[in-house]
Amino acid sequence: LATTEVDLEPIAAGQRITVIWRSQPVFIERRTPEQVAQAKADDDSPDLIDPATDASRVKSEEWLVVVGVCTHLGCVPLGQREGDERGEWGGWFCPCHGSHYDTSGRIRRGPAPRNLVVPPYELRDDGTVLIG
Ligand code: FES
Repeated sequence: LATTEVDLEPIAAGQRITVIWRSQPVFIERRTPEQVAQAKADDDSPDLIDPATDASRVKSEEWLVVVGVCTHLGCVPLGQREGDERGEWGGWFCPCHGSHYDTSGRIRRGPAPRNLVVPPYELRDDGTVLIG
C-alpha cells in the first residue's frame, strides 16, 4: 500500500505505536507536554548532529511521526515498548552501534548521521493520520 491510515483516537498521551508504511516501521507518538517542552528546549543545542527545530519536524506539537529506521545502517531503534531503553535524551536508542535520538527523533549521539526521517503525512480532522 502506498498510504497507511491510522486512527489516533485510542493513543493516550505518552503512548507510542508502530505502524507499517511501505514495508517500513513508522513510529507514532502522542507526546506529553513535558516531552514537547524538552524537544523545544533543545532546539539550539550544540550537540544536535543534524540541526533542526522541533517545530520543523511536526505538524502538531502533540504528534511525532517518524520512520523507525536508524539512519546509520538501518536497525530499528528501541523505545517503542514499555521498559525499552530510550537513550540519554528519552527518545529512541539504537542498540546496533549506540545511536541516541531525542523526543523529536533527532540524533544526539552515536554514529547515525541524520535525524529519524519524517515521512509525508497528513493529520485529518476526523482524528486519523494518513501516511504517504
Ligand atoms: Fe543504528 Fe548503527 S544502525 S547505530
